[in-house]
Amino acid sequence: MEIKIVKEDKKQFMDLLLLADEQESMIDKYLERGELFALYDKELRSICVVTEESPDTCELKNIATYEAWHGMGYGSSLIQYISTFYKDKYKTMTVGTGDMPSILRFYERNGFHLFHRVHNFFTDNYDHPMYEDGVQLVDMVYLKKDL
Ligand SMILES: CC(C)(COP(=O)(O)OP(=O)(O)OC[C@H]1O[C@@H](n2cnc3c(N)ncnc32)[C@H](O)[C@@H]1OP(=O)(O)O)[C@@H](O)C(=O)NCCC(=O)NCCS
Repeated sequence: MEIKIVKEDKKQFMDLLLLADEQESMIDKYLERGELFALYDKELRSICVVTEESPDTCELKNIATYEAWHGMGYGSSLIQYISTFYKDKYKTMTVGTGDMPSILRFYERNGFHLFHRVHNFFTDNYDHPMYEDGVQLVDMVYLKKDL
């Protein structure tokens, strides 16, 4: 397994980026200023994007694994890698996500805990209703991890 930082042509990963954030105009808001990490196990499996939000805080903006490879530890490996990568640069890593038990468990298993909720984020900021497992996404929840 190999993880690379990608500096050029980050839009080549749009198919994966759209799995985690289904509106390209929202991805455009952070993709250029973010650092993109791509995980390969012979072939591309997962990506994530991290941005600087303040001098001591970075944010995991997007993380996705191709569906055929879910549940094989690639997402967790990426989180472990970026946690080590940024630990001397930032104190805290945050992540915002839909309020879905499966995704919250994934982040909690990887060292994050819940600290903030933005009511109506998905209904106010996206141009169409979004559903995950048949449930409409309404609030954004924020989790954080001490690096
Ligand atoms: C969330 C995601 C990146 C995890 O990647 P991964 O490579 O499967 O991660 P891991 O194998 O380390 O962990 C998988 C765990 O995540 C959980 N999970 C969370 N959301 C999931 C989803 N949409 N599909 C499958 N598993 C999911 C599973 O329950 C699994 O737990 P388990 O190991 O107890 O079965 C991946 O499921 C994904 O790409 N989902 C779609 C994009 C997305 O929702 N990204 C997050 C946006 S905030």
